[in-house]
Amino acid sequence: MAGIAPSLLSADFANLTEEIRKIELGGADYLHLDVMDGIFVPNITFGPPVIKKLRKVTSLPFDVHLMIDRPERYIKDFVGAGADILTVHPESTTHLHRTIQEIKSYGIKAGVSLNPSTSLDTIEYILEDIDLVLIMTVNPGFGGQSFINSMVDKIKKLRSIIDDRGLDIILEVDGGVKLSNAKEIKEMGVDLLVSGSDIFGSEDITNRTKAFKNLIE
Ligand code: DX5
Ligand code: ZN
Repeated sequence: MAGIAPSLLSADFANLTEEIRKIELGGADYLHLDVMDGIFVPNITFGPPVIKKLRKVTSLPFDVHLMIDRPERYIKDFVGAGADILTVHPESTTHLHRTIQEIKSYGIKAGVSLNPSTSLDTIEYILEDIDLVLIMTVNPGFGGQSFINSMVDKIKKLRSIIDDRGLDIILEVDGGVKLSNAKEIKEMGVDLLVSGSDIFGSEDITNRTKAFKNLIE
């Protein structure tokens, strides 16, 4: 059974509380929060102050995806804002192992996200230390892009590594995940699916979330 983490990136930023209510009613498992700084990725979204306010309106676990340069500068702030999972990109932080240890020192889950062109080898030596791997299936920065098919092998390879070594790691996939390909993606061995535009861009956000749940259960 896999879970669904709707990405707030495609929500109506002027009505976030109502948008979150809709995905809660649909049975969302996590809220995926995309933090972008205009440097690591060519887009800017929101930071700790917004997340801190959202923490007051929902009890959904916060899956915070940091697409920012040198995320180690802000770990404490995101923990203070209420993150339950903090995921960083190895392409953005020089001392990945140190950054992971710092996140874990606050008692929350630490994740690593790989851009499409970043090899699984990058995380070989920290697999024992992390709680989640997020495979990007689009180049990060924007919602509404298409799933990159060459990522299928990467996802399946990671699934075998996790299973063969008996690792306690959540395998998450982000980018181009839609109702039309969700089942196929789940069957690759994915534990957590992120979907932004296909949920928040839909006419009925609650029903669309429910439809995802039914498909991937
Ligand atoms: C992209 C973000 C994603 C994004 C996915 O950089 O990390 O979480 O919201 O959007 P969709 O589901 O529209 O591809
Ligand atoms: Zn994301």
